[in-house]
Amino acid sequence: MTDQTTTYAGPERVFSGVQPTGALHLGNYLGALKKFVALQADHECVYCVVDLHAITVTQDPSALAQQTREIVAAFLACGLDPKKSIIFAQSSVLAHTELAWYFNCVARMGWLERMTQFKDKAGKDAERSSVGLFDYPVLQAADILAYKATHVPVGEDQKQHLELSRDIADKFNRDFNAPNFFPLPEPLIKGPGARIMSLKDGTKKMSKSDPSDLSRINLIDDADAITKKFKKAKTDMLGDMPEDEAGLKGRPEVENLVGIYAALAGADTQTVLDEFGGKGFGTFKPALAELAVSHLSPITTRMRDYLNDPAEIDRVLKDGGARADAIARPIMEEVREIIGFWQG
Ligand code: TRP
Repeated sequence: MTDQTTTYAGPERVFSGVQPTGALHLGNYLGALKKFVALQADHECVYCVVDLHAITVTQDPSALAQQTREIVAAFLACGLDPKKSIIFAQSSVLAHTELAWYFNCVARMGWLERMTQFKDKAGKDAERSSVGLFDYPVLQAADILAYKATHVPVGEDQKQHLELSRDIADKFNRDFNAPNFFPLPEPLIKGPGARIMSLKDGTKKMSKSDPSDLSRINLIDDADAITKKFKKAKTDMLGDMPEDEAGLKGRPEVENLVGIYAALAGADTQTVLDEFGGKGFGTFKPALAELAVSHLSPITTRMRDYLNDPAEIDRVLKDGGARADAIARPIMEEVREIIGFWQG
């Protein structure tokens, strides 16, 4: 068996997607957006607002377009440069839905039945969830592979979906005897900030869908809200800040706060503990809040400015859509030929 990762000869390309549902938070920023920005310096990057994924659960048609604009405002406010990176809406490029169908015929039921995110999202009522929700990871594979993307910056929770994308790419290449046609995309997950947890429960991911707003720092929170949320963040009764990483074991809330500090400061965990070990949370929490405010307040300000200029956002989306389409179109022509469709 050949290792197709090393034999794929095409160019490196980065792709990632963010759903236009709910406000972005610190976990999205540290886990994804900050990495998106770093990657655009030396990679061709394609960043997609995945509105087709959003409608796997019910969305309000009168709000969806505005939610898409809000994600773009956050992208730009965090430092994505629309001249360097391609920023666009998934629904504006038809290759995604088309390739998702072909991949539906490549992916196996058993592969999708193993997806833990579907089980979590569908809960006990899987019979009533949309077919689209079940099929969600196949569309995600299509997103990535419509551009033959090789690298995908995502949070830890998307690892399984990325493995599925690799399996689909590999099976397509084999089934249609097209060795190395699709790359086997690699997740870029590592680094501090890969997994930011809820401020109220260190075992649960920070999430836009958590009913408690105190569980997360939103990108649009002002300085007062940020300070208050860190002050109220859950810790434990096990005493002061530990001196080393071993002391974080069994203290998920403290580990999370230290991780957030490290990710914001661009330092490693031990460096943070060197500074705060042995000190109380009454010292650490205000320092963390101050660091977070200094990072986020310029972003918040820029986001508000962009949201006041929707025409500029729409220009970015239109231009990005055209550039994305220009990459995907010839790839889709090849795919149709490989599958063997009649082409007049
Ligand atoms: N499923 C991803 C998430 O929830 C979003 C997504 C959709 C995505 N398509 C993608 C991420 C393609 C990376 C690549 O975060």
